[in-house]
Amino acid sequence: MQLLRLAGLVLALALLAQAPRAAEETDRVTGLTLEGDWQLVQANCTECHSALLITQNSGDRNVWQSRIVWMEETQGMDELDAEVEERILDYLAEHYGPRQAARRAPLAAHLLPQNPYSDP
Ligand code: HEC
Repeated sequence: MQLLRLAGLVLALALLAQAPRAAEETDRVTGLTLEGDWQLVQANCTECHSALLITQNSGDRNVWQSRIVWMEETQGMDELDAEVEERILDYLAEHYGPRQAARRAPLAAHLLPQNPYSDP
């Protein structure tokens, strides 16, 4: 019994150690990560649409820049001051960079049920 409890404790600790670290703090209104130049993004990027369009997206610096160019060329966005744009791009690339794939790795073949259609 004692051994079982100990095993349970070890398992719980192992799971805890793997738990993702506490999420970064975010602004209550926009949801933007409260670090660096987040207020520049709030001031320049939430006039036409919700900040959700930003926080749900991801991409490297070039991807973010291409979105800004697209909004400037087709969505009536005023061109950003060059220095402001640089700082916004730094912020976006750092906090909303490319995401790792969210799917788990495939199961090993020996963990799968037998395929009834495969040759024996
Ligand atoms: C002048 C208005 C305007 C401003 C300012 C603006 N946007 Fe947009 N943005 C738009 C419009 C319009 C869309 C398209 C909305 C839709 O699809 O519903 C859009 C879409 C987006 C998208 C989604 C693009 C996609 O591929 O679906 C992202 C991300 C985005 N904006 C980020 C930003 C960022 C970052 C800033 C600040 C640098 C910004 N926006 C400032 C008008 C603006």
